[in-house]
Order: sequence, then structure tokens, then C-alpha cells
Amino acid sequence: MKKVLFAVAVTSMMGTSAVQADQGEDMYNALGCSGCHGVAGKSSIPTYPTLAGKDAAWIAQQLKDFQSGARQDATMNAMAPMTAGFEQAIADYLSAQ
Ligand code: HEC
Repeated sequence: MKKVLFAVAVTSMMGTSAVQADQGEDMYNALGCSGCHGVAGKSSIPTYPTLAGKDAAWIAQQLKDFQSGARQDATMNAMAPMTAGFEQAIADYLSAQ
């Protein structure tokens, strides 16, 4: 019974892009990204770039580049590893704002 419930949970997590976008929103808020980049990626502080409405593929790539060190920023090099596996979901969410 537990196995069945687990399978259902995983399937729903991997489901439609709408579900993924919800997950991206949850991750964005849970990881504290909004503390710098603003609610829904709409930053009001010039130091922190606005992420809302930017190209999803580009955002996901920045997160991967911060993880690998291909793009250097002390803060984001520390934050980006926490998005591992959720880069695209977070990017889809932000792009849609
Ligand atoms: C403590 C503040 C802070 C937090 C928290 C933070 N960021 Fe950032 N973020 C920055 C700064 C500063 C930059 C600009 C870095 C640079 O100039 O290269 C940045 C850049 C970015 C960029 C590239 C945007 C661009 O216009 O070049 C993305 C994408 C991004 N952050 C996503 C995230 C995500 C997703 C999270 C949560 C996991 C997060 N950030 C958490 C401060 C923060």
C-alpha cells in the first residue's frame, strides 16, 4: 500500500508543466530566493536582478552555470546547488511571472 502511494506521489510530481510550475514556486519560496530576488522574482532592489519574465531556458542555464562555477558569484555559487534537479521547474515558474 505504501509503495502504491509513493508511486502516485512521484507520478504527480513528474506530471504536467502546470504541476512543475507549482513545484518551482514552492522551491523558489522554500529556498529563500525571494528574500533577494523578490516575491515572484520581481526584485525591488537593484543589486538583485529581476528574474520574472526572463527566458526559462536561460534561467535554468544560469543556475547550472552557478553550480559548476562557469558563472562566478559568491552568493549564487552558494545558493544554486540547492536548486539541483529543480532548475527547470524554478525557471518555468519565474519565466511565467
Ligand atoms: C542573498 C541574496 C540572493 C539569494 C538568496 C539568491 N540570489 Fe540569485 N542572485 C543574487 C545576486 C547578487 C545575483 C547577481 C549575480 C551577478 O551579478 O552575477 C543573482 C543572480 C541570479 C540569477 C541570474 C540573473 C541575471 O540577471 O543574471 C539567477 C537566475 C538567480 N540569481 C536565481 C536565484 C534562485 C533560483 C535563488 C534561490 C535558490 C537565488 N537566486 C537566491 C542574489 C541572491
